[in-house]
Amino acid sequence: MKKILVIPGDGIGLEVVPAAVEVIEALGLKIEFIDANAGDGVKKKTGDALPIEVLEMVEDSDAILFGAAGESAADVILPLRREIDSFVNVRPAKAYPGVNALQPNTDLVILRENSEGVYTGIESRVSEEMATLTRVITKTASSRLAEYACEYVKDQGLDKFTIAHKDNVMRITDGLFRKTVESVASGNGVKTESAIMDALAMLMVMYPEKYQVIVCPNLAGDVLSDLAAGLVGGLGLLPSSNIGPNCALFEPVHGTAPDIAGKGVANPIATILSTCMMLEYIGYGEEAARVRLISEQTLSEGKTTPDLGGKENTRGVAAEIISKL
Ligand code: NAI
Ligand code: MG
Repeated sequence: MKKILVIPGDGIGLEVVPAAVEVIEALGLKIEFIDANAGDGVKKKTGDALPIEVLEMVEDSDAILFGAAGESAADVILPLRREIDSFVNVRPAKAYPGVNALQPNTDLVILRENSEGVYTGIESRVSEEMATLTRVITKTASSRLAEYACEYVKDQGLDKFTIAHKDNVMRITDGLFRKTVESVASGNGVKTESAIMDALAMLMVMYPEKYQVIVCPNLAGDVLSDLAAGLVGGLGLLPSSNIGPNCALFEPVHGTAPDIAGKGVANPIATILSTCMMLEYIGYGEEAARVRLISEQTLSEGKTTPDLGGKENTRGVAAEIISKL
């Protein structure tokens, strides 16, 4: 029996996570879902966005399924990623047939460093007029990311990845990042292509088909993956995983979408595809492939939520996928 800790969070997290859980339940697998929560709603009730009891439940879990947290997102997702010692955030962006994507040739994956960079929280208010932030890059974190990237490209039958960085300006930090990643890749027989991150943003918009796997520092990965979402039809489609040595957390890339929360129309596909990544991780690869195929079929038939131009609601999309399963 695999134990999945389910944390829907706030806003549309409370809508898309139950829809995705319903889809998995329809497969009848040996999975036990353990309900918990965190985020703004929990903070209002308990004073703490991520109660210690929830954090303690992580140790007993094989994986975590998370929705999104609102204003307290950084107090929820960053400690959860830290708790599982996540060193990579995997964010695939693919344009699906039938979806009106800006760039229909997009099929790429962003492998984002997940523990340091500018997301260390080491900020200080020096004076009324000045604030600073410390950017941390370590050889250890860069190596772990690069090792994962090498395995990842080999699994995909590829032999190369792109390194996004800005070592022409951040010479010491991104210099260390780039050199470390290049050296691990070369030790593993994997080729790399170096790309300055701002220029890469433009090239991804113009020629997304040139990129398959992009390896980047934390903030660059955050920004470039939302950009990639824009190429394929929006945030309602982007799943992600946060991998650690003994546990992993799966979540849609999107946030709580306050503009549509409570209306029942959020696109559940990003979360359903995140659960596919989760199924693969816990050893249900065939089932993951089936759910993915059926989700793609549902998209191509236009049975989608309004963000993709369809008339379905969240539950309707999940019900359609379940009926096809
Ligand atoms: P957002 O991702 O929530 O929304 C951006 C836009 O995309 C909105 O127009 C929204 O309606 C649309 N959108 C997102 N997901 C969608 C879906 N599944 N179906 C249809 N449309 C969808 O980002 P935003 O507005 O910047 O942030 C809102 C809140 O979410 C903030 O409080 C932020 O802190 C939080 N957030 C939390 C994250 C997390 O918990 N991992 C990640 C990003 C934001
Ligand atoms: Mg983001």
